Amino acid sequence: MNSRRYFMKQMSGAALAIGASPSLLSWASTAQSGSIDVPGEDGMIVRSFRFVDLETPVEYFNTWLTPVPHFFVRNHMHEPSELSRDDWRLTVGGEVEKPFTLTLSELSKFETHSVVNTLECAGNGRSLHRPQVPGIQWGKGAVSTARFSGPRLRDVLRRAEVKSTGKHIMFRGLDEVPGKVPPFIRSIPIEKALDADTLVATHMNGTPLTKHHGFPARALVPGWIGAASCKWLTEIKVLDSEFAGNFMSPAYRFPNQPGKPGDAVKPEDTHPLTALSVKSVISGPLDGASLKSGRVAVHGAAWAGEADVVKVEVSTDGGKSWNPAALGHDQAHYAWRLWSYEWKARSGDYNILSRATDSLGRTQPAAPVWNPSGYLYNAADQVKIHVA
Ligand code: MTE
Repeated sequence: MNSRRYFMKQMSGAALAIGASPSLLSWASTAQSGSIDVPGEDGMIVRSFRFVDLETPVEYFNTWLTPVPHFFVRNHMHEPSELSRDDWRLTVGGEVEKPFTLTLSELSKFETHSVVNTLECAGNGRSLHRPQVPGIQWGKGAVSTARFSGPRLRDVLRRAEVKSTGKHIMFRGLDEVPGKVPPFIRSIPIEKALDADTLVATHMNGTPLTKHHGFPARALVPGWIGAASCKWLTEIKVLDSEFAGNFMSPAYRFPNQPGKPGDAVKPEDTHPLTALSVKSVISGPLDGASLKSGRVAVHGAAWAGEADVVKVEVSTDGGKSWNPAALGHDQAHYAWRLWSYEWKARSGDYNILSRATDSLGRTQPAAPVWNPSGYLYNAADQVKIHVA
């Protein structure tokens, strides 16, 4: 579906969802700025009508692998309208001895490798930063987990014979760039590109990538911010230094030192975002829930980018005391762990918190590190509930 048709469909979906009142229609037409919160197809939260930006409701964090229709979608621009399996080409060039171009069937002849990866947008949780910052106002659900499969990027690069001058690998997607917006092009250091788990992914949970997720091929840079994993991949270029462009700088950079919330940060005092932080989210009970007293399962998901989650703790008294949660059976290096904690709830009002600790010894802080673009929100999660 092209993005305009998708937009119209989402519009009618949103209108249906809340009764198509005239006020909705005027409100929806102002939604281009990207800070809306309405249910779309399959219950996904539509965060922007301008491009397709869909958030996964936290109550969907109940399976280790996220079903593809429930996997969040983040697009900076329009999805490509024309994409055909037969016409698609991937060029590999730059600082290499043997540049070449691949068809999809040639790409599929490389050995396939699979990686279960939790993909999280760097801006996940942005709406929770105070003071608020501009950008898509993600709640907690710009994160999902899937089994990605496809050739290893290093095998593709090996065929091209990277020169010793090759230091960064640039990805270009086929997005349709609106007006004068800079194209979505980014690069990753060669060390990460040569990692055995970095892929040119063609499949997700065993089926070919859908258009929302980068059909027919995307980069998959496990453990790193979602922006590293370029969709609708059409060019891989080996560079002698980091790609210079909007989506490497000023976008997707983090202050070298935490500053005062609200303070500006100079570009020279920032570095590019790479691996994700340690984080947990409570997927139930939901914020604002009213429950009966008795046994209550507090549950959720926790992840840590390139590190492993070693512990999740739950507090039922607003952070005064913490209890260990049980970690789910399913695990893989770059994937989230589901967790749960059984609690005997008595009547009252509660502030329930969760915090994860990882194999690097990092624990979720009580407060996030505020930064002007609202990246990497990872404060201990909390929900307020009532027990009758
Ligand atoms: N690749 C292209 N070509 N264009 C994009 O806008 N968005 C990036 C990344 N790859 C993007 C892209 C960002 S910011 C994220 S978080 C992930 O894709 C989201 O991947 P998903 O939509 O499959 O969940």
